[in-house]
Amino acid sequence: MNSKLVIAHRGASGYLPEHTMEAKAMAYAMKPDFIEQDLVLSKDDVPIVIHDIYLDDVTNVASVYSNRKRKDGRYYVVDFTFDELQCLKVTERFNPKSGKQFYPKRFPKGKSNFKLHSFQQEIELIQGLNYSTGNSIGIYPEIKNPEFHYENQKDIARIVVDILFEYGYKTKEDKCILQCFDARELERIRIDLQSNLFLVQLIENDEEVEKLYSYAKYADGIGPWYKQILDVKENEKWKFTSLVNDAHEFGLKVHPYTFRADQLSEFSSFEEMMQLLFYEANIDGAFTDFPDKMVAFLKMS
Ligand code: G3P
Ligand code: CA
Repeated sequence: MNSKLVIAHRGASGYLPEHTMEAKAMAYAMKPDFIEQDLVLSKDDVPIVIHDIYLDDVTNVASVYSNRKRKDGRYYVVDFTFDELQCLKVTERFNPKSGKQFYPKRFPKGKSNFKLHSFQQEIELIQGLNYSTGNSIGIYPEIKNPEFHYENQKDIARIVVDILFEYGYKTKEDKCILQCFDARELERIRIDLQSNLFLVQLIENDEEVEKLYSYAKYADGIGPWYKQILDVKENEKWKFTSLVNDAHEFGLKVHPYTFRADQLSEFSSFEEMMQLLFYEANIDGAFTDFPDKMVAFLKMS
């Protein structure tokens, strides 16, 4: 894990609906180092590759199963069996209230025919492609919302760790990085579930940035929001927080999320964003919706 890593965030999600097999196959062809899988359990305990515990912002669940929403008006992955989920069409992310597409310039909402799939099916796609192409692209699964799963009598971490073991992902050398926002759960994966995988602690708020010392006891890296690395811009030049250096001192790799060429709030170009964060802030890898652009940038620089 020494060179700078490209992590295909939800696949090639800048070009095809996130987390579809098509987005994963396209990402694979762009030759990133890793392809990401967000995981949520179905009613019958199948890990589904989907970003949210909800179905209604990336599928047509509201028209197929209109009477299956909860009191809050949302449709939950955990309320449907794997077979039932197969009846849904997946689409580009949209706001379920307004129906508006989240990224208007991406793949058109409602077009073509995409489906949900299991974690095992995606592992078999990536391992199959590794076999047929001779490449060695890794997986980067994220356990989503363990607390919510416990509330629904489910232990997602145990199920995912067992599947990884079964498919040959056992050590830090096995091209699998396991990530989670929940620090207690990631520590449990290391200590109680005795996983020897490369573990990344995701971070989303500033208090968590202060806890590097405790993360270093069980994790191998952190995944912060990239904005937590940016400090202030003075005389047209960005200054950085101490996060990357501090993490490196604790022996932690730093893989920030999410680099989007079509959402460049602070930067004048995607290249500027990558140049600053990879080479001036010295990050070790990054999640991107545009793996082709990051692979090309790192090859040139
Ligand atoms: O897991 C890294 C990054 O994907 C975290 O953000 O919300 O896209 O899962 P999210
Ligand atoms: Ca993720």
